[in-house]
Amino acid sequence: MAYKIALFASGSGSNAENIIRYFSEKPGIVFPLIISNKPDAFVHERAKTMGIPSFSFSKKEFDEGDKIIRLLKEYKINFIVLAGFLLKISSPLLEAFPNKIINIHPALLPKFGGKGMYGQHVHRAVVNAGETQSGITIHYVNEKYDEGSIIFQAICEVLPDDTPESLAEKVHALEYLHFPGVIENIVKASTKG
Ligand code: GRF
Repeated sequence: MAYKIALFASGSGSNAENIIRYFSEKPGIVFPLIISNKPDAFVHERAKTMGIPSFSFSKKEFDEGDKIIRLLKEYKINFIVLAGFLLKISSPLLEAFPNKIINIHPALLPKFGGKGMYGQHVHRAVVNAGETQSGITIHYVNEKYDEGSIIFQAICEVLPDDTPESLAEKVHALEYLHFPGVIENIVKASTKG
């Protein structure tokens, strides 16, 4: 029985697509659906191209949780991966999937995390702070933004002439390089034995 993972994305979905393509040759892990909070997010186009059903729900429906939980159960989802998802995960969803939701954040948590810290906002804050390093953090999701236990981090240099845009490119490269393998290791660990 394949391990079924739901991807949540609010925007472009390049991480979601990268993850799906990585596992396309690995039958043990499948991605039956993509869920978003933005009906016009480009991730829906990517889903259509890859032949994967995608759905969009309102912030209110995410806060309530029941409609989304029903859909996840219908698809027999085992695990949820937030790949560029900007809403906080509500308690009903956390209770329905305890320790089964992970997120990727484009900075080295606990620094540069929390509400409002996403996309270019993060890279601008890192550059403005004069940091010499940034990177990615993959962590379990809990009831607070970006505060669940850290699973993995990868680091890139921030050079004096780096801009938020050039830093974003380095961080995206780390995301595409590491996120699929980290997901694979988590699934292997949780399905072993
Ligand atoms: C990525 O930078 C990710 O770290 C953050 O949101 C962005 C998503 O980009 N959580 P994309 O939608 O996967 O292209």
